[in-house]
Amino acid sequence: MPETGHEKAGEGSGATEAGSWAGPSTRSVSAGEAILEVRDLVKHYPLTQGIVRKKQVGAVKAVDGVSFDLGRGETLGIVGESGCGKSTVARMLVQLEKPTAGAIRYKGEDITALSGRALKAVRRNIQMVFQDPYTSLNPRMTVGDIIGEPYEIHPEVAPKGDRRRKVQDLLDVVGLNPEYINRYPHQFSGGQRQRIGIARGLALNPEIIVADEPVSALDVSVQAQVINLMEKLQDEFDLSYLFIAHDLSIVRHISDRVGVMYLGRIVEIGSDAEIYEHPTHPYTQALLSAVPVPDPTARDHRERIILSGDVPSPADPPSGCRFRTRCWKAQERCALEVPLLAVPAVFRGADTPAAHDSACHFAEERTVVPR
Ligand SMILES: Nc1ncnc2c1ncn2[C@@H]1O[C@H](COP(=O)(O)OP(=O)(O)OP(=O)(O)O)[C@@H](O)[C@H]1O
Ligand code: SF4
Ligand SMILES: [Mg+2]
Repeated sequence: MPETGHEKAGEGSGATEAGSWAGPSTRSVSAGEAILEVRDLVKHYPLTQGIVRKKQVGAVKAVDGVSFDLGRGETLGIVGESGCGKSTVARMLVQLEKPTAGAIRYKGEDITALSGRALKAVRRNIQMVFQDPYTSLNPRMTVGDIIGEPYEIHPEVAPKGDRRRKVQDLLDVVGLNPEYINRYPHQFSGGQRQRIGIARGLALNPEIIVADEPVSALDVSVQAQVINLMEKLQDEFDLSYLFIAHDLSIVRHISDRVGVMYLGRIVEIGSDAEIYEHPTHPYTQALLSAVPVPDPTARDHRERIILSGDVPSPADPPSGCRFRTRCWKAQERCALEVPLLAVPAVFRGADTPAAHDSACHFAEERTVVPR
């Protein structure tokens, strides 16, 4: 690992540029005992031309070298603008999509290479809760069939005669009346439907839940109820969560640690206090400066950072630091060297919350959300 904390741009991209993470940091709040280790994860979608003879002319680099640990029993929040690759990471974790490169180690074993029975066994332990409870539940199936469907693939978890009772227990666990088992999704509100989605996610007793924007489609008043339910279930079932959301306030509320993504990469990661109160990456600072502040006095004193320009295309990301085309601090070095996700040299060894992983050559602490 280069001591300078950077790699040269142009030494490859995507799969070969993997290694932009300096490994679990010694100073940052760590994930504890990791149940999931994600290393240099890459997903490129080929861009093709031609109708009969398809020729690859490029690739959408949706995820381009993402690394993090998920600790047992912890909640890792992932935030970032639309299109930065959050859902693509989620789909790879639950094996809905195969990575182009990289490793996903569950309890030390790389699951990306698994197939057949071994893959099926791992899938059981990593379940997903989807964003939209209106479209993710089959309208023609009863709630009982929806929640019990995973038992068709894993009958060992609940033999046929036991399923109805199990599903009713799950309805009870997520705060729904077990007598609703024969109802259809349209007979429920949005919040109740998301509870059904959560019950389905729990059916196989997983250890990890990947929740992709689980409350984004819900009314604000209902969001808190679903978040509270997820927190309660985490304690009850010893779950580890990867929690993806746009809303930084919600992510802060539920997360132990937070990772900030930009254009296919994690640019900063740390404990919730490190990220929200001591951000060092300009992109994180800009995102936080847009978070609504309820207290009017604090609001008057807070600093807004307005980013110029659009997010570049993931098919042609900028060289060096991907954020440089919108960064007010960008210098020549930023176009030449890919910044590593590591504790910046300026904070290394210092006893400060600013000493957490941040992929910026010129990382500086800047408080944008009033404490
Ligand atoms: N199957 C696919 N084929 C080609 N490009 C894709 C595919 N799926 C996603 N992408 C592209 O990959 C990038 C990342 O998409 P992704 O859905 O992971 O982003 P996201 O962070 O979840 O966004 P949002 O917040 O809007 O849900 C986007 O540019 C998207 O258009
Ligand atoms: S490396 Fe340069 S362009 Fe990237 S965030 Fe830091 S200062 Fe901005
Ligand atoms: Mg998404």
